[in-house]
Amino acid sequence: MANASQIVSLIHSHFASEDERFSTLALQIAAHEARLGHTSTAQQIREIIEKEKSSKAKLKVIKIHSDLGDLIYETTPKNRLNQLVLPDELKLRIERILKEYRQRGKLQKHGLSHRRKILLVGPPGTGKSMTAATIAGELHLPLYSVQMDKIVTKYLGETSAKLRQIFDFIEAQKGVFLFDEFDAIGTERSKENEVGEMRRVLNSLLQFMEASNSESLIIAATNNISLLDKALFRRFEDILYYQLPSPQEAILLIKNRLGSFGKGLKLNGLEKEVSGLSHAQLTQASDDAIKESILNDMDSVDYEILINCLREKKHINH
Ligand SMILES: Nc1ncnc2c1ncn2[C@@H]1O[C@H](COP(=O)(O)OP(=O)(O)OP(=O)(O)O)[C@@H](O)[C@H]1O
Ligand SMILES: [Mg+2]
Repeated sequence: MANASQIVSLIHSHFASEDERFSTLALQIAAHEARLGHTSTAQQIREIIEKEKSSKAKLKVIKIHSDLGDLIYETTPKNRLNQLVLPDELKLRIERILKEYRQRGKLQKHGLSHRRKILLVGPPGTGKSMTAATIAGELHLPLYSVQMDKIVTKYLGETSAKLRQIFDFIEAQKGVFLFDEFDAIGTERSKENEVGEMRRVLNSLLQFMEASNSESLIIAATNNISLLDKALFRRFEDILYYQLPSPQEAILLIKNRLGSFGKGLKLNGLEKEVSGLSHAQLTQASDDAIKESILNDMDSVDYEILINCLREKKHINH
């Protein structure tokens, strides 16, 4: 049987709601019982504590989740690197991020850490969100998309508190965190009446980013780097610049997207038609062409249909 002082401490920790201490004392009692040869009692105590601990851990995650319900969306992307059409230089930079994460143990042994805070900059539809999904997909990590615009619009006044919750979550949960529309918060030129609030938010964001040292990857994306506060830049370990595709990249993207629907189709001479279109628009135009062909009972896309779909997208740009 446990000794008297152990029982007194146990009762004390229960009423003081000191869960950790309570568990430690209970485990000490289990060890004491085991030494006396009461192995089944010891085992029983250990099982109760284990069960309690694991259900508490789950509860904590769910609680953070529900508090942030409309600010963070969780997905498990299956994206692979070879689906991304990007200049080689950019692909190499992404591969380096993956490599450092996969071999982070090796780096840690030398006091180094893997690249974790990454800024993606570039025009709409050039693959920034897709890159975050690809990194998550390749590393088999969940992707958590943080809705920055919502934090600013819906929670103005309590933005810093929300950010703290988000960063607590980042520390507790391993994953890829995408702060999309990052400029919503990182802006230097907010509306007059919001300037004070924005400044506070920005400062807390900088502090959270600085302090964060979980294994999670933090990826921020923006269309407009000139809106971002300079102080934010230094917090990122890598900045990747995205651009509209070159004609060769555009044609490769269409070819990939059409797949078997592109068989027999000659894509050269398309340079003029694709110029100015983003990866996203080229993807949409290819999908439109496939749909059109299916509805016309054709088993592949013809040149005419494709050109029309591309021109339609161009129209939208003008
Ligand atoms: N580099 C790319 N390679 C292949 N497909 C791409 C690429 N960029 C975009 N796409 C296609 O366009 C879709 C939309 O792109 P994505 O959401 O990644 O753009 P974004 O850069 O995040 O744009 P935004 O600034 O508007 O958020 C992707 O889901 C994908 O189908
Ligand atoms: Mg995006």
